Amino acid sequence: MVREWDPRTASSAEIASLLDTLNAVLAADLPQDPPWQENSLREYLAEVMPGERRISWVAQAEPASNGVPGAIMGQVHVLLLGDIGVLEVLVHPSARRTGLGRELVLTAARRVYHEGFQSIGVEVVGDTPAVGFYEALGFAKEYVETRSVLDLATVDWAELTEMASGIGAGYHLEFHPGGPPDELIEAYARAKAEVRDVEDGELRPSSYDPQRLRDSLDCLHRRGMKPYIVLALHEHSGEVAGLTEVVVPAQHPTRADQYDTIVVQDHRGYGIDRAIKARMLLELRSAEPQLVEVQTWNAQANEAMLKVNAELGYRPDREWCEYSVDVADLVHRLDPGR
Ligand SMILES: CC(C)(COP(=O)(O)OP(=O)(O)OC[C@H]1O[C@@H](n2cnc3c(N)ncnc32)[C@H](O)[C@@H]1OP(=O)(O)O)[C@@H](O)C(=O)NCCC(=O)NCCS
Repeated sequence: MVREWDPRTASSAEIASLLDTLNAVLAADLPQDPPWQENSLREYLAEVMPGERRISWVAQAEPASNGVPGAIMGQVHVLLLGDIGVLEVLVHPSARRTGLGRELVLTAARRVYHEGFQSIGVEVVGDTPAVGFYEALGFAKEYVETRSVLDLATVDWAELTEMASGIGAGYHLEFHPGGPPDELIEAYARAKAEVRDVEDGELRPSSYDPQRLRDSLDCLHRRGMKPYIVLALHEHSGEVAGLTEVVVPAQHPTRADQYDTIVVQDHRGYGIDRAIKARMLLELRSAEPQLVEVQTWNAQANEAMLKVNAELGYRPDREWCEYSVDVADLVHRLDPGR
């Protein structure tokens, strides 16, 4: 049975059951990824940026004969932002190829259509059943990135310490756990507005203006995701010349996510990219001692950044694609009777 579901009011048993399904999916599709924990999972699912909405549905098995509620075998949610709905679907490996994934997508797509949105986007992990699934439903590939993973056990820390200090004269680095300090928010937002070398999925828009940046940091904290930032400051102008952001999620605290890394155009060629990333890893080593890996996503054309990541020890892992579909087409294709 598929029904609308609100993580804010869901029972703890439902959250735990969804976590079991998510971890069964990871074990089947991405066995190298760490399992998720329940820490802040409810908040992760419930909290959104101002102006955005996330609507969720679950597919729950029938209750047992003693009345114990059935397990959550599938889930879909759609995040409504701008004119697009960003979809995420999960089906427990034991319930696949029975049409449940298609039913969940159709349920979400109908709502997105009735809310007047134009298209649906989805992140599809390469080499998993999701590729065949979305292609069968008529989604088209828009954009491909490579995910790379750095195993911290392979890092040469002495070399990293040298990299972190190999920055041109006239710049200095600052480390800010939790986000940039308020007095630097405007300069930080200006640097992000220059975003050209984004190490981030297109479906996660960067924050360009100071208020949006504050909102996005606040949203990360509410979702149990702790941001860390290293800045390169240009001493003469006080401008932010470069920045790198890593987030440690409470849900999988052994594997951190690299978000944006930006070196502002005028400040390229001074070793800032390498130095800020090296400094970040050194800081994380003491701030988050449980951390085992960092994952990052890069456009395949972004050769300069791929080169620095390779020097740091990142290994390409798999493709990470964005697919999209016109909502009206999807609804009519899946549900021709309506
Ligand atoms: C993708 C997913 C939702 C599909 O769920 P499902 O319930 O098995 O899908 P359906 O049964 O509705 O399949 C519909 C159609 O999609 C296609 N399809 C589904 N799985 C496929 C596969 N493994 N290979 C090729 N085509 C596939 C088929 O055309 C299928 O129709 P058919 O069974 O009549 O041939 C499920 O595999 C899943 O949860 N994957 C993980 C998704 C994810 O987000 N992972 C992120 C962390 S890894």
